[in-house]
Amino acid sequence: MITCKGRSEILRMERAALIVQEALAECVLACVPGATTEDIDRVAAQGIKSRGGKAAFPGYRNYPKTLCISINDEVVHGIPTTRRKIRSGDVIGLDLGAIIEGYYADAARSIAVGPVGAEAEELLRLTHAGLCAGVEAVQVGGRIGDIGAAVESVARRKGYGVVREFVGHGIGTAMHEEPQVPNYGPGGKGTIIREGMTLAIEPMFNLGTSQVNMDRDGWTVRTKDGKLSAHFEHTVVATAHGPVVLGFGRYAEGRLVPGAPALSEYPVAASATPQHAVPSSAASPSPGVAASASASRTAVA
Ligand code: MF3
Ligand code: CO
Repeated sequence: MITCKGRSEILRMERAALIVQEALAECVLACVPGATTEDIDRVAAQGIKSRGGKAAFPGYRNYPKTLCISINDEVVHGIPTTRRKIRSGDVIGLDLGAIIEGYYADAARSIAVGPVGAEAEELLRLTHAGLCAGVEAVQVGGRIGDIGAAVESVARRKGYGVVREFVGHGIGTAMHEEPQVPNYGPGGKGTIIREGMTLAIEPMFNLGTSQVNMDRDGWTVRTKDGKLSAHFEHTVVATAHGPVVLGFGRYAEGRLVPGAPALSEYPVAASATPQHAVPSSAASPSPGVAASASASRTAVA
């Protein structure tokens, strides 16, 4: 069953999503060479707890940690450990979920640690662009398949592999609700998108093959060819004025800002080269923007 959420429910999800974005930003800052992935997990746990949230991942299907941290050829669901050190040149996916008053938010971003080369930088930029294209397709009256078609069309420009074994999902009072949200088409098919639907959209793009393997730990997913993978995720709500990404102050009393935030609007900029470390106050859109989709839409990278 797909549930459409009302304003008070979405406001709770927005609070959860804001906590996730702030905690993710702290994780980004902690991703320095020599830190262990366990160190980053602790930052994530503290980031959620200190803001009054509850971590969504611990215990989910017996998942042991707060954060999923997936490095280089790891696609998603890498488990933090004291045995894994971050190194300069790593491409790191950080995936985090939080709960506020029973309502979930789920988000992910991928970053470069130090210089990673043009190919990796472009993969990061375009995986984010794929997420933004998917967000823009969350239009009331459209179809779930439109989201995947939009995501996939960005990957096709570069011949990236689009992971098919893992998909986005509805989200609300559980982390994974119906419907599934694939990162591929066809468009024009699937469930009709209605006002109040809350969806986690999460493209995974690979430099090489779309094929993935599961590690023996039963969680870590990695590319079959060992090439790089990137992952970005937003929790999004379909409104009459267009898609609103949660966690960026875009859904509030008297304020609705549709469209996908640019990478420069995240609490800490995503790319190591160059560093656009914009303070979040300076980077956020002007307050009190009218609920007009066209006037307030943010350009997609
Ligand atoms: N964002 C991830 C997903 O939707 C959540 C990680 S699952 C967990 O699949 F088990 F790690 F919690
Ligand atoms: Co998710």
